[in-house]
Amino acid sequence: MEEFLDQIRNDHHNFDKGQISDHVPGEPFDFFHDWYKQAFEKGEREANAMVLSTVDGEGKPSSRILYLKELNTQGFVFYTNYLSRKGREMNENKHAALLFFWPGLERQVRIEGKIEKVPAEMSDAYFASRPRGSQLGAWASYQSQQLENRSELEERIEKLAAQFPAEVPRPPHWGGYILVPEYFEFWQGRPSRLHDRIIYQQDKTGRWDIHRLNP
Ligand SMILES: Cc1cc2nc3c(=O)[nH]c(=O)nc-3n(C[C@H](O)[C@H](O)[C@H](O)COP(=O)(O)O)c2cc1C
Repeated sequence: MEEFLDQIRNDHHNFDKGQISDHVPGEPFDFFHDWYKQAFEKGEREANAMVLSTVDGEGKPSSRILYLKELNTQGFVFYTNYLSRKGREMNENKHAALLFFWPGLERQVRIEGKIEKVPAEMSDAYFASRPRGSQLGAWASYQSQQLENRSELEERIEKLAAQFPAEVPRPPHWGGYILVPEYFEFWQGRPSRLHDRIIYQQDKTGRWDIHRLNP
């Protein structure tokens, strides 16, 4: 363990894979598109995995990883159980944050904004496109609630498979959310920890104010 901790302490990773010039896109979505595409093209593993941080009604934060499933002109869409811990927290507090980390490119993107549920038809369409196993799983898993043992879950799956021999309807407690951004930070690692940080902040008229932060 000591040896391992020493290794962490002595790892002075030098970031040198890129930079952000002063000429950046006027729209943060365009910037995000460019970086997202590059993450895929460079073979970044799990490029669409992101950390979602939520805050409950008492102001306590919590984080977990989710998959980004759609990016449209409004924001960032993901799917989950509406009754899960994150679901309950987003019900109590609409403010949330997303974080993408693409280590191969030495980049992170921080996004903050407000959460809305996506229209039911959109959740229906995405649910219908999922493999049958995941569809049954969405019914069987009371996500984030205590489970007595593994077989309780497996028995529920068996029953549901018999109940829905063909098409599996979308459970009412399962669907999409969209995070509508008000704030973006694009971070590119640079040598000597002198990283580039570009902020897009939306003003009251909806215009994006762009500025740079100290590393
Ligand atoms: C790579 C990865 C992708 C995940 N994608 C999702 C997802 O798209 N939706 C989801 O509900 N949980 C996903 N999870 C599981 C969540 O991290 C989390 O365990 C679960 O949603 C329960 O979170 P909660 O108790 O905060 O509600 C993923 C986990 C990992 C590691």
